[in-house]
Amino acid sequence: MCGIVAYIGPREAYPVILKGLKRLEYRGYDSSGVALLNGDLRVYKKKGKVNELEESLIGKDVHAHAGIGHTRWATHGEPSDRNAHPHQSANGKLAMIHNGIIENYAQLKTELQKKGYVFKSDTDTEVLLNFIEDIHENNQCGLEEAVRIALKRVVGAYVIVLLDAANPDTIIAARKGSPLVIGVGKGEHFLASDASPIIEYTKEVVYVNDYELAILKADELVLKNLGNEKITPFVQKLDLELAAIEKGGYDHFMLKEIFEQPDTIFDCLRGRLDVSNATITMAGVQNNIEHLKLANRIIMVACGTSWHAGLIAEYVFEELCRIPVEVEYASEFRYRNPVIHKGDVIFAISQSGETADTIVAIERAKEQGAFIFGVVNVVGSSIARISNAGAYTHAGPEIGVASTKAFTAQLVVLTMIALKIAKEKNTISEERYVHLLNELHEAPEKVKEILLLNDKIQELAEKYKDAKDALYLGRGYNFPVALEGALKLKEISYIHAEGYAAAEMKHGPIALVDENLPVVFVATKDSYHEKIISNIQEIKARKGKVVAVISEGDETIPQLSEDIMVVPQADELVAPMLSVIPLQLFAYHIGVAKGYDVDKPRNLAKSVTVE
Ligand code: M6R
Repeated sequence: MCGIVAYIGPREAYPVILKGLKRLEYRGYDSSGVALLNGDLRVYKKKGKVNELEESLIGKDVHAHAGIGHTRWATHGEPSDRNAHPHQSANGKLAMIHNGIIENYAQLKTELQKKGYVFKSDTDTEVLLNFIEDIHENNQCGLEEAVRIALKRVVGAYVIVLLDAANPDTIIAARKGSPLVIGVGKGEHFLASDASPIIEYTKEVVYVNDYELAILKADELVLKNLGNEKITPFVQKLDLELAAIEKGGYDHFMLKEIFEQPDTIFDCLRGRLDVSNATITMAGVQNNIEHLKLANRIIMVACGTSWHAGLIAEYVFEELCRIPVEVEYASEFRYRNPVIHKGDVIFAISQSGETADTIVAIERAKEQGAFIFGVVNVVGSSIARISNAGAYTHAGPEIGVASTKAFTAQLVVLTMIALKIAKEKNTISEERYVHLLNELHEAPEKVKEILLLNDKIQELAEKYKDAKDALYLGRGYNFPVALEGALKLKEISYIHAEGYAAAEMKHGPIALVDENLPVVFVATKDSYHEKIISNIQEIKARKGKVVAVISEGDETIPQLSEDIMVVPQADELVAPMLSVIPLQLFAYHIGVAKGYDVDKPRNLAKSVTVE
C-alpha cells in the first residue's frame, strides 16, 4: 500500500518521479505528492489520483535533480491535501514519504506535543518525521544518526525516504516490513516500492532488507544496518521488460492480464512439466521433498484471491497426496495461538509476496519450527525471502488491482507441487498422474478458447450490470471458484456478491432468492454434477435467474439456465483454472459497463502491506 519513488542524479527529477508514481498508482490512489530539492525544498500535494497532481503542477517550478514522490492509500487520516505525502517537518527543512504504519505514533505524538510540536495532518508519518527532526536538532547529530535513533523506538512497518534541505546531494531511506528497491544507474540512483518505475532507466537493482538504511548520492550508494555497520549492496540484474508493465493496447491492465493467461500458464509450466517423459521438475520441491512428503499436515496461509487458491489446493493436496490440509486467513492465523508442530508445512501463497498479514503469519509459524514453502509471484519479495523453500508462479507483473493471472498461475504451481509429492509418496496411480500432466499441458489452449467468449460475456454484463446483489455457487473444486467469482464482482463493480458452497445455500442464503437475483453457478462436469443440477433446480423453483458456467457437451444445464458460459471439458482437478476465466471477464465487463475504473477500484490497493 502506498507507492514511493525517489530520484537523485543529473536528470530532471520531477518527470522521473511523476512517471514512476503513475506506474505505482495501483498501490494506492487517494492522494499524491512530490517534494523537490533545488536550493529550497518545495512540496506539492493533492487529493485524488496522480493526474490531478500533475494538472495542479502545470506552470509551477518543478526543476530539481533530487526529489521524492508518493501515491497514498490512507491509513491514518482521511484522503485530503493535508494528509497527502510528502510531509514537511516543523522547521520546514525535512520532507518525508512513508509506506506502512507507525503503531506507537500516539505515544510519540504526545511526547512531541509536550515539547511544543503542532501537527498539520492526522498522519502517523508527520509524527515520525518530527520525531526525527527533534532528535536531529536536540542531539545535534546528523540526519542519518537521527533516523537510526528514531527507528529504534518505532513500532510498526515502514519504508521512509527523506530529503534534507541542508544536504541537497543526499537522500536517506530505511525499510522494515514494506518493500524498497534501489535502481543503480550511471551517476544516478532511483528508489521505488517496486521495480516498475526503475526499469526504464536501469536493470541493476538492490533490494533493501528490513532494518537497513540506504544513504544515496547521485554517484554513491551506502547501505547500513541500524547498528551503523556498512553492508555490501547485492546488485541484481532485473529480468523484466518495460512492455510487461504497460497496457499494450488494452483498455485496462485487468483485461490485458486476463488475456495473458494462456501465456502465463504456459510460462508457469515451461521448463517444469515434461509430458513426454512424464516428469515435473521443480527444484524447490525436489530439494525439500523429505519435508514435503513427510508433512503431518499442510497449512495454506494467504489472503484474498490467494486464499481462494489455497482452498482449491486443499482439495488437490488431500486427494492426490493424502496429507491433511488446513486453509487459513493469514490475518486470523497470525493473531491466534495456532498449534504448530515440527512436521507441519506452511504454504504461503501470495502474488505480491509483500502482504503484511501473510508475512507475519509465516514468521510466527517459522519461529515455532514449521517449514515454510512460498508460492509467490514477485521474485525477491519478502515472502520469497522468508520462506525456507518455494516455487515462483512466473505470471509476470500483475498491475490490475483485481488479481486474475496470478490466481491461475498459483493453481498451476500448486497442482504441480501436489502431483510431484503424490508421485514421491506413491499416492497416485501412474495412469492418473500421466492423465493430469496432459490436462495441465492442454490448459493454455483451453484458456485461449474460453477467451473467445469475451464478446458474449460483454453482452451478458450489459444485461446484469444493474443487479443489486448476486449469488455465486459451486461445489467441490468449483466451490472456491464461486468465492473468487463473487470477490471479483464485488471489488470491480461494487455489486454485493456472495460466494457459497451450493449445498449450503439451503441453510440460509436461499432466502435471498427471488426473480431479481442473478445466481451464478460454477457447474462444469465433475463428480458433483448431478448434485449441482439439483441445486440449480432449487434456485429455478424460486424464480432465481441462473447464469451457469458449464462444460462443452452439457445438455441439461442449458435448459435450466437463463444464460450460460461454456468452457472446454477438463478433469475436475484442473477445471478451476478454466471455470474462473468467464467469471473474471464477467466482473470486468460489468465494472466497465458501470463506468468504474476497474484497475483502481475504490478503497483498494494492490499490495496490502499494512495489517
Ligand atoms: O499479493 P497477495 O496475493 O498476497 O494479495 C492478497 C490479496 O490482497 C489479493 O488477492 C486481493 O484480495 C486482490 N485484490 C483480489 O483480487
